[in-house]
Amino acid sequence: MEASAPLPIPQAPILLFDSGVGGLSVLSELRAQLPDAPVIYAADEAGLPYGAKSEAEIAARVSGLLGRMAERYQPRLICIACNTASTIALGMVRDVLEIPIVGTVPAIKPAAEMTRSGVIGLLGTEATMRQAYVDNLAQEFASGQRLLRHGANGLVELAEAKMRGQPVSIDAVTEQAKGLLLQPHGQDIDTIVLACTHFPLLEDELRAAIGTDVQFVHGAAGIARRIVYRTTGQAFDRSEPDKAVTTGQLDDFARLSDAFAGYGITTLEKF
Ligand code: DGL
Repeated sequence: MEASAPLPIPQAPILLFDSGVGGLSVLSELRAQLPDAPVIYAADEAGLPYGAKSEAEIAARVSGLLGRMAERYQPRLICIACNTASTIALGMVRDVLEIPIVGTVPAIKPAAEMTRSGVIGLLGTEATMRQAYVDNLAQEFASGQRLLRHGANGLVELAEAKMRGQPVSIDAVTEQAKGLLLQPHGQDIDTIVLACTHFPLLEDELRAAIGTDVQFVHGAAGIARRIVYRTTGQAFDRSEPDKAVTTGQLDDFARLSDAFAGYGITTLEKF
């Protein structure tokens, strides 16, 4: 019988990784389900936006960065709180790192259970939309339904601006989302999968842009449940302050201080 891995020390953090602020939509659920877990929030702001990058670039960047972050922070678990990075690089990261990795996948399965019209919208980054990972989810869980996809990279920038306290116009959100609704059968969409972790941060604006007849679904609660499951039986000590680190410029990251403070993170550092 294989020896089981030693339990992590109680201060060992969960590393929550995204290209930017999108992971905050996951952190919010994680705090609700696991309030005592120490967290390091890691934002690859120097690499943002991932949605406009190639597969090779994202895979190399994410696996390289997570390797270095794992060495420096010794996390008990890494959550890739980013659909783009997960649908492209999850397998590679799992191959190279020995710690548990929880990924983020578009919530097509719950959407397929929720839709009544049988027409589901999938809103994510352009890179996520073209992944075989998404084709497989569609095939497995929504083969009897119509799944309309739309890559809306511009929503990432709008979510980043909103979290820096800048105003976001509904017109700008509408402009980004309209390519979904204007497709054939787009008017029949009753459920939209927010397949980018940045997008739930704009849920109010998306609702104002798209209307209240459509329901939104995303994976944050499911991801948090998965983290709870993967850390079952482990002790947590959150007496040290949590922190957020960026690969980008610290003065720009500081503009997110209020947003991070809302999640109990007041230490912002450069990675
Ligand atoms: N938050 C990322 C996601 O879930 C994408 C943001 C980006 O394009 O960098 O897909």
